[in-house]
Amino acid sequence: MAYISNEVINEIRNKTDIVDVVSKYVSLTKKGKNYIGVCPFHDDHSPSMSVSPEKQIFTCFSCGASGNVFSFVSDFEKIPFIEAVKLLGEKVGISVSGTTKIETKKDDYLEIYELANKFYQNSLFTSLGKNAISYLEERKIDKSTIKKFGIGLSIQKISLTDYLVNKKYTIDKLIEVGLTNDSGNDIFVNRIMFPIYDLSGNPIAFSGRIYNTRDTSKYINTKETDKFKKGKILYNYHLAKEHLKKNDTVIIMEGQMDVIRASTIGIDNCIATMGTALTKEHRSIIKNMTNNVVLCFDGDGAGEKATVSAIDLLEDAGVNIKVVRLPNNMDPDEYILKEGKDSFVSQIDKAMSLIDYKMELLKKDKNLTDVKDISSYINSAVRALTSVDDDIVVELNLKKMATSFNVDYETILNKYKELTKKKRLPVRKEVKQKKTYDRYRKAENNLIYYMLKDSTVINMVDKRIGYFPTQNIRDLSNEIIYYFHKYGIINVADFISYISFSEELSNTLREILAMDIKEDFQIREIEDYIFVIMEYHKKKRIEDMTKKMKEEKDPLKQAKILEEIMEIRGVKKNDTRD
Ligand code: UTP
Ligand code: MN
Repeated sequence: MAYISNEVINEIRNKTDIVDVVSKYVSLTKKGKNYIGVCPFHDDHSPSMSVSPEKQIFTCFSCGASGNVFSFVSDFEKIPFIEAVKLLGEKVGISVSGTTKIETKKDDYLEIYELANKFYQNSLFTSLGKNAISYLEERKIDKSTIKKFGIGLSIQKISLTDYLVNKKYTIDKLIEVGLTNDSGNDIFVNRIMFPIYDLSGNPIAFSGRIYNTRDTSKYINTKETDKFKKGKILYNYHLAKEHLKKNDTVIIMEGQMDVIRASTIGIDNCIATMGTALTKEHRSIIKNMTNNVVLCFDGDGAGEKATVSAIDLLEDAGVNIKVVRLPNNMDPDEYILKEGKDSFVSQIDKAMSLIDYKMELLKKDKNLTDVKDISSYINSAVRALTSVDDDIVVELNLKKMATSFNVDYETILNKYKELTKKKRLPVRKEVKQKKTYDRYRKAENNLIYYMLKDSTVINMVDKRIGYFPTQNIRDLSNEIIYYFHKYGIINVADFISYISFSEELSNTLREILAMDIKEDFQIREIEDYIFVIMEYHKKKRIEDMTKKMKEEKDPLKQAKILEEIMEIRGVKKNDTRD
C-alpha cells in the first residue's frame, strides 16, 4: 500500500471547502452558521443533513451519517476513503503519488472510458464519419452541440478494441467494462455514440444509435457494469445540475435526443431516464438536485404511462411535480423542431399542476355526457382531491365540478368530507430509533466530542482518566491523544481522515458526531464527566471485589476484602452507614 502522509491529506482538506463539495451533490440552504440539505444517505424527506463550514464536517441527525469532506465523497460515490482523497486532491492540484491495487483497478475503468470517448469523438470527424455528420446535420445537431454532449461515432473499420489493446488494456478488461464482446470485437459498430456520464461527469457508458443501417434495436447501451447501472444514472445529470443554480427546477424527459434538443434552444436543466422506468435511486438523485420537477415525457401512450408511474414514485417523497403532455404523440425533440422554441418554453411555463393533470387523466376514456360516467368521474376526482393539502385548490375544483356537471355543490362537498374522514387516520411518522446510552457511555461520548473540540479536554483526560470503560472509546481516546501529541494541534475534520484506517473506530466516531451534543461546554461539565467515569471504575472494582469476597472461604481473608471494598466506597472502618 502506498503511504500518504497525514500532512498531505490535511493539506488537501484545508484547500477544499466541504460546503462547495457537498453542494455539488446536494442542494444546500444556509441556516444560521450551517448549511442544511436533504441527506443522500437515507431516504430523507426533509432536510436533515447539516454541513458545518466552521468544523468542515457534515452530520445527519436522522440516519447518523457524518464525516469530513472525504467521507462524504467516499460514501456518496461509493469509493474508498483514499480514492476520495485522491479525487479531491486532483481538484486542488495536489496529486497523491503512489497507487494502491484498488486504485488502479478503479481508475482503469474511468481511463478506458475517457479514452473510448475521445476515440469515438475523433472518429466522427474522420472521412469515414461523413454520413454520420450529415445524419446529425439533418437532425439539426450542430458542431457545438456535438461537442457539448461529446457525441461520437463507432466505425466498423476503426476498431476501438485494437486501439485500447495497444494502450495495454487486456481483452478481458475490455469485455468486463462492456466495450468488447466475447469474440474480441467491438460491441458498438456503426452507431452514433452518446456518452453517458456518472454524477461527477466521468464517461462510464455509451448509448449508440443506428443512423444509416437497419438494425433490430435503434439504440444499444453499454451493459450494466460496476459503475453503470441504468437505474442509478440519469442522462445529463452533471450538466443539468450546474443550471439548477439559476433555475431550481429539473425537467425530466425520456430520451437523450430530447435533452440534447432542449439544450439547443437554451433549456439546459433537463435530464433523461433513457427509456427506463424511474427508480427509487433516481428519486434520491433527483431529490438531491431539487424539489421541483417537470415531467415532460413523450406525448404518446408510453409517455403517459411513464408519467403516471413517475408521479407514483415522486409524489410521496414530497417532490413538487408539474406535468407537460405534448400533443400528437410528439416527444420533446420532435415538438421543438416542429413548433419552435417559444412554443416549447410556453409548454414548460404553463405545465399542469399535479392535481390538474390527475383530474384530466381521470376524464380519459369517459363519456362525460353519460350520467354513469359523470358520477364515476366525480367520485374518483373527489377521491384524488383528498390528497391535496391546499384547501383553496380543493374548493375551487369541487366548485368547478359542480358547475360543469350541474351537480349541487353541497352534494360534492359532502362526498369529499366523507372521504377525508375515512382517510384521516393517524399519520405514521418515520421515527428513527435513537440509540440510548447509559450515563457512563454518555460521559464517554461527551468527553470524546469535546476532546476533538478543545485540547484542554485532551489534557484533562490524558492526566485524569486511566482508561475509558468502552473498548472503542478507549482506543479513540488513545488515538486522539497520540494525534495531538504528534501534531500539536487537532481538529475533528482532520482527525476523521486520520482515523479512517479503522472502520470500527470511524463508525464509533460517526455515532458520536451525529449525536445532539451541544457545542459549548464548561470545564465544570468536563469535571462531571470525568467524575462519572471514575465512578464507573469504582463501581466495577467493587463488583469484582464483591465477587472475590463471595468466592473466598477463609473468613479472615473475607473480612480483609470487605475492608478494602469499604475503603473504595469511601467508608471508614467502624462506620456503619452504608
Ligand atoms: P425513444 O424511442 O423515444 O427514442 O426512446 P428517441 O429519444 O425518440 O430517440 P430518436 O429521436 O429516435 O433518436 C427513448 C430512450 O430510450 C432508450 C434511449 O435512451 C432513448 O433515448 N432506448 C430507446 C433504448 O435504450 N433502446 C432502444 O432501442 C430505444
Ligand atoms: Mn425522438
